[in-house]
Amino acid sequence: MKTVYLVTGGAGFIGSNFVKSILKTGNKVIVLDALTYAGNLNNISPIIRDDNLIVCSEHRRLAEVVLDQSGNVTNVNHDFDKERSIGKYGARVVKSFDVEDLQKAVTDCLQVHDAIFIHGDISDSAVVSKIMTSADMVVNFAAETHVDRSILDPGGFIKTDVYGTYNLLECARKCENIKKFVHISTDEVYGSAPTGTSFKESDSINPRNPYSASKAAADRLVFAYNQTYGLPVNIIRPSNNFGPFQYPEKMIPVMIIKALANEPLPVYGNGLQIRDWLYVDDNVLAIELVAKEGEAGEVYNVSGRNERTNIEVVRHILHRLGVDESLIKFVKDRPGHDVRYSIDDSKIREKLGYKGGEHFERNLEKTIDWYLENREWWMTTLRSDSQYLEFIHKWYEERR
Ligand code: NAD
Ligand code: TYD
Repeated sequence: MKTVYLVTGGAGFIGSNFVKSILKTGNKVIVLDALTYAGNLNNISPIIRDDNLIVCSEHRRLAEVVLDQSGNVTNVNHDFDKERSIGKYGARVVKSFDVEDLQKAVTDCLQVHDAIFIHGDISDSAVVSKIMTSADMVVNFAAETHVDRSILDPGGFIKTDVYGTYNLLECARKCENIKKFVHISTDEVYGSAPTGTSFKESDSINPRNPYSASKAAADRLVFAYNQTYGLPVNIIRPSNNFGPFQYPEKMIPVMIIKALANEPLPVYGNGLQIRDWLYVDDNVLAIELVAKEGEAGEVYNVSGRNERTNIEVVRHILHRLGVDESLIKFVKDRPGHDVRYSIDDSKIREKLGYKGGEHFERNLEKTIDWYLENREWWMTTLRSDSQYLEFIHKWYEERR
């Protein structure tokens, strides 16, 4: 029997890389994703068919997913207008289900397919409880993830990262078939690391912005469900990820895209802040390992062992693309900016035999090549995603 993973946030950056990897190792996957501005069905297009997409009529709102002739997703339209879209795209509209029929729809679909996509929210207990009965493992990636957005508008972070995680935990606690609940936390929960120190799992947490505070609350809730109710959980705290399919408002894609467009590269403050860069494939392997072998109740740090200042990373990108450094523009700093992230990941290495990390420059070059070869993927967001355009305008206007 194949293991069934419920992967929340599986249409986002790390989640989509995880989903593709876990399918290759012979598992089944149920992706639950609300398709916020950061979620993109094209990230998992190789697994999408027109009969394994389930669009729930939760939020009491229908969405349509438009596929082209080869089965690639061309549009997710939240203002459901069947007639118009069929006429416009010459495309198929995927079946939608009522929440009441969801459990049966998932069971039926899993008999035919290794992967299912469900459009839904982790905060919706009706949806989550019906899906979870079909899963063996839960891996929770779903979150609002951008620190800068959390500074402008923290509410959505509390709703998804804290309440959404609580809802998943409550459903898991009542669902006897769940063997492991794996929660993707972040190294940002520790707060800024003084020079010369790297935080261990046993160190106290000290989040300093609304994103990391929401993640810290979720991290501790997951732990509480283990201690209080005996739910078998693991908490993973990875450092900053980079690689293919990262939404184009995070630092590395921002800099690649600006350099390609010959536009100023906005570096916050003096650019001497330090991040520890972890290639997404390494993180995916670590998560798979913890899901299979991690001891219940334990927290695991995952470091890239690649601490670099932001300015070093920006210079490397410019150099690789043959673009002049005069494009670097130091802009007003992010409020509450953590100066340095640094974690010690000897626990996962010693206890579980994890061996990833390092090779930053080689993986950065692979990432740059991916953005060069997949212009259409990010250009679509740049051209037409109104939430992206609104955020970029507001945030960088304040930094001039
Ligand atoms: P992302 O922003 O690229 O993707 C988040 C995904 O979650 C999207 O597909 C989005 O549609 C989905 N989502 C958001 N709200 C939802 C909701 N209410 N219900 C269902 N789905 C919802 O994020 P990412 O960079 O892939 O990060 C994934 C996880 O890893 C997050 O929990 C994040 O905190 C954590 N993390 C990320 C990094 C990093 O550097 N990217 C580092 C450490 C930890
Ligand atoms: P980011 O990718 O937002 O990740 P996080 O803040 O969660 O670590 O940013 C990485 C670093 O890059 C962080 O120190 C902020 C900085 N940064 C810039 O200097 N300019 C930018 O335009 C962005 C998006 C980030």
